Amino acid sequence: MRSADIRRKFVAYFVERGHREVPSSSLVPADDPTLLFTNSGMVQFKRTFLGQERRDYVRAVTVQKCVRAGGKHNDLEQVGLTRRHHTFFEMLGNFSFGDYFKRDAIAFAWEFVTGPAWLGIPPERLRVTVHHTDDEARRLWREVAGLPDDRIYGLGDKDNFWQMGDTGPCGPCSEIYVDLEWRPGMAPPALAQDEFERLAEEGRFLEIWNLVFMQFDRSADGTLAPLPKPSVDTGAGLERIAAVLQGEDDNFHADTFRPLLDRVGTLVGRPYDRAAPERVSYRVLADHARAVAFLLADGVYPSNEGRGYVLRRILRRAVRHAWLLGRREPTLAPLTEVVVAEMGDAYPELRARAGFIRDVT
Ligand code: SER
Repeated sequence: MRSADIRRKFVAYFVERGHREVPSSSLVPADDPTLLFTNSGMVQFKRTFLGQERRDYVRAVTVQKCVRAGGKHNDLEQVGLTRRHHTFFEMLGNFSFGDYFKRDAIAFAWEFVTGPAWLGIPPERLRVTVHHTDDEARRLWREVAGLPDDRIYGLGDKDNFWQMGDTGPCGPCSEIYVDLEWRPGMAPPALAQDEFERLAEEGRFLEIWNLVFMQFDRSADGTLAPLPKPSVDTGAGLERIAAVLQGEDDNFHADTFRPLLDRVGTLVGRPYDRAAPERVSYRVLADHARAVAFLLADGVYPSNEGRGYVLRRILRRAVRHAWLLGRREPTLAPLTEVVVAEMGDAYPELRARAGFIRDVT
């Protein structure tokens, strides 16, 4: 299934279930000095979760532009070396503002992931984690999804408690994992918790969706105050889901990145080779071209401080890797053109600012 179809299906599924389709917010969070960039779908709803802002809907669905470079969730130095780290990525999310809570969040996620009309991932490929204190979520995964207890793992705060930054809305979470080595007809292997955690670390089990049960507001001194109403914030990485559905075990090999790797190959004169050491530079360029195009489209400009400084670091890293590949001509500009061509339908701001993006890169 192509990434454009995954986006469309996700929105359609939740709109059919009473969610308002809300456009992605800017990568620059509005009026929020606590955060460098929008790092997840819930950022534009932070004040709604806190009860400081009322909206005329209580359920929302988004496909959100995110950047995790600089700040709390900072992946920059990993990018290119791993199968999953990106500076820019898209997060699919459904949200409840004091409306449904754990039971429906789990039921929706399970139906969307496994339903033949939706993603259609076989349930035997799936396992979930819950916060180790969250007996209710564990019971609901058994009841609502029919998951056997031995494929539900209870993890601690490091993995299963989510927060946007040092302060703000947060809560225990529950994650869905796909077994990348599962093949049709295979019975799910029995795995104790430590084996599962090791295999997740090694990449066999891939987290595709995080359901956060928003219950608290963390203040600067670390204390947790209950939110006015328990809420739901879910996030599913589009690039990961695309890779799983396209039979790839590496996000860079799915259609979200492939046209960019191919274009680097054309520019350099050598096609992308997944076994060659120089593949890292192709991947850095593919990733950074997306981040640069989207950050410029959202009004970030390279500079010496704050957001502009992070963009400058991304640009420099891209130029260094183009140089390593032997390029002495501008390389990012033609790559950002691919980004605009591939993603301009979903994000019209790319087309609107295409000339500016080309001029800066
Ligand atoms: N905020 C959670 C995350 O980023 C779920 O959207 O994982």
